[in-house]
Amino acid sequence: MDELVSKKNLNWSELGFKYHKTDYRFRALHKSGKWQEGELITDEAISIHEGAPSIHYAQQCFEGMKAQTAVDGRVLLFRPDLNSERMNSAAPRLLMPQVPKDLFIRAVEETVRANYAWIPPYGSGASLYIRPMLIGVGENLGLNPAQEFEFRVFVSPVGPYYKGAGMAVISLAVSEIDRAAPRGTGSYKVGANYAGGLLATRQAQELGANEALYLDASENRYIDEAGSANILVVMNDGTLVTPKSDAILPSITRRSIMEFAKDQLGMNTQERPIDLRAELSNFQEMAACGTAAVLSPVGKLYFDDQWHSVYGDGSEVGPVMQKVYDTLVGIQKGEVSDGFGWTHEVKI
Ligand SMILES: Cc1ncc(COP(=O)(O)O)c(C=O)c1O
Repeated sequence: MDELVSKKNLNWSELGFKYHKTDYRFRALHKSGKWQEGELITDEAISIHEGAPSIHYAQQCFEGMKAQTAVDGRVLLFRPDLNSERMNSAAPRLLMPQVPKDLFIRAVEETVRANYAWIPPYGSGASLYIRPMLIGVGENLGLNPAQEFEFRVFVSPVGPYYKGAGMAVISLAVSEIDRAAPRGTGSYKVGANYAGGLLATRQAQELGANEALYLDASENRYIDEAGSANILVVMNDGTLVTPKSDAILPSITRRSIMEFAKDQLGMNTQERPIDLRAELSNFQEMAACGTAAVLSPVGKLYFDDQWHSVYGDGSEVGPVMQKVYDTLVGIQKGEVSDGFGWTHEVKI
């Protein structure tokens, strides 16, 4: 594409985490047991049958990823192969066809490329959020899987998920309602997990927190995750610990942080159950992490009818999370060398 294609005239640094209509989206249908090649289209509306299983029985899954403008102007995705793998773990769980990896990556690349003018520039603090989705469409009434499916990818320029530029310090309120059952669908990125969480988020916000924090559903004791992010804790001995649980979404951000914390930052790392009430006094720093949340330090927590301070006065960033944030964002924006091969350039 011509390098002189100009960017849209948006106030990039003021963008919130909101839908912004872009020019193109990608659509491929699965009919008679086969995926179509797919194409870029301009219509943001989807017209589906009123009986479609996605809108009655939540037969759908999705992904969330970002394209960023690197320091040298390249457009970078972060480990898109893992988003493809995660969608392909959710699809069979909901009796949907897997999306072949080459179709997934091609759809993401084509959509990003076609919307080049909407990719926020380097240094703006914004990025292009990418939402691949797989939904059961077509006529149906009973509790049956769909006969036809749509795979779609749309994008939207977004600013920080939590208010405030750069690294926002957040607070979390422990939810009194559960997100996912131990042998349920908590480890898949399926819409059904999120509809049930809307109320938990609302209740957390009413308490003045940014998000809900879920404890495990069987004992209400161990940290699972936040509404849209996984959890990381630096213990007093410096170990970086993340909850082990079968009911949480396996975050690509978390997996990457745990890998570079050990290999590049020389930290001790552990994945194990974290008993919130018993271990809080041993927390040195805590953060939520994810594609949208990036790395957001947690300053305080609400549970058992009161606020508990986690770090400083609740608005400060600790030194370890600062280092983890800088490394993560540095790799994603091509500022520090990506010895892991995690970034994936979209040739424009
Ligand atoms: C429930 C939940 N947990 C964790 C994450 C973080 O996952 P990832 O790092 O792959 O974006 C997300 C999505 O961002 C999420 O929706």
